[in-house]
Amino acid sequence: MSPILRISEYARQAKAVLPHMAWEYLDAGAGDELTLARNVLDFDRIELWPRLLRDVSELETRVPLFGQTLPHPILLAPVGYHKLFSPEGELASARGAALSGSTLSVSTMTSVAIETIAREVPDARLWFQLYVQRDRGFTQHLIERAQDAGAQALIVTIDTPVLGNRIRETEAGFTLPDHVRREMLQELPKDLLVRGHGTDLEGIYYPLISPKLEWKDIEWMKSVARVPVILKGILHPDDVELAIQAGADGIFVSNHGARNLDTAPSTISALPGIVEKTKGRVPILLDGGIRRGTDIFKALALGATAVMIGRPFVWALAAHGAQGVKDCVDLLLHDLKVTMALCGQTSVATLERSVLRRPEK
Ligand code: FNR
Ligand code: LAC
Repeated sequence: MSPILRISEYARQAKAVLPHMAWEYLDAGAGDELTLARNVLDFDRIELWPRLLRDVSELETRVPLFGQTLPHPILLAPVGYHKLFSPEGELASARGAALSGSTLSVSTMTSVAIETIAREVPDARLWFQLYVQRDRGFTQHLIERAQDAGAQALIVTIDTPVLGNRIRETEAGFTLPDHVRREMLQELPKDLLVRGHGTDLEGIYYPLISPKLEWKDIEWMKSVARVPVILKGILHPDDVELAIQAGADGIFVSNHGARNLDTAPSTISALPGIVEKTKGRVPILLDGGIRRGTDIFKALALGATAVMIGRPFVWALAAHGAQGVKDCVDLLLHDLKVTMALCGQTSVATLERSVLRRPEK
């Protein structure tokens, strides 16, 4: 079998092997998917403007983040229900993360409990993504389970007081098959554990995510967390100061893979405004639409410390399991290094913004 050389090939193969409902859940964006397209297109609008005759014989891809040194800046974003995509679910993803030196963000909607992932794949670096629950005691219980299992950071997703209007997902009748359970949430009352996204309690609300979350709750979360707390879903520069005042250790620029609010800005177009307000006080992560090493380069050159990929690693997981996840990360990392060398940049931590060019309109 010839090696896969483009991320879109993983998407093609995943679509061919996945049941229609799982594919639609994975692929769909919100509304008319305008932001879904912009997440990708806005990377393409930025040109690379290379600088020449610099020694690029050694390239540094390591990134310091929250007191650790990551081998490279590519992490795996929180995605629910990996058993929809691969029989072993998050265990396969964690193996892929370990093989590739990446970090797996385990979703609150994981189909394998974080304790099981940590036990079965001890060399995987794990972060936990928290959907704040309606019951504060249960939310604290989730945080403690994740920390006790060894999660090294907590990503609090703050862009989902309600789920987005995912038309294709609804048309496909998204429901969880019997073999896919929300293993972190099994102790909740059974009437909360709806099988799909369409059934809800009060019309637009989702039983498994609190719509009451406010900035003061982040302060509470900081008081119970022993690991860095990252706020995921920030797009507006005016939210940066609120996040930092609430105690955020990291800011995560994300539009939830365009699955929540259609016509929200693409993440790469939102990034400069966030960087300007953050003033280097905390690290910035970004996800949404990353499909190439050049995209990663652009995000880092604009001021992100590291990036996450969502759909790309899940495509690879669906098509080729753990090895696919590793190959997918390697492919992006290879392209990132080629881009660095051709742009005259030797370290991911010090990419010059001046090698990015916005064509005149
Ligand atoms: C997600 N995302 C997500 N985010 C989160 O905080 N908790 C979650 O459980 C999920 N679940 C989820 C499922 C699926 C199928 C997708 C595609 C995405 C959003 C995810 O973390 C990330 O923000 C996007 O996937 C990034 O965009 P790309 O890389 O998919 O374009
Ligand atoms: C998603 C989360 C809610 O599908 O699982 O984006």
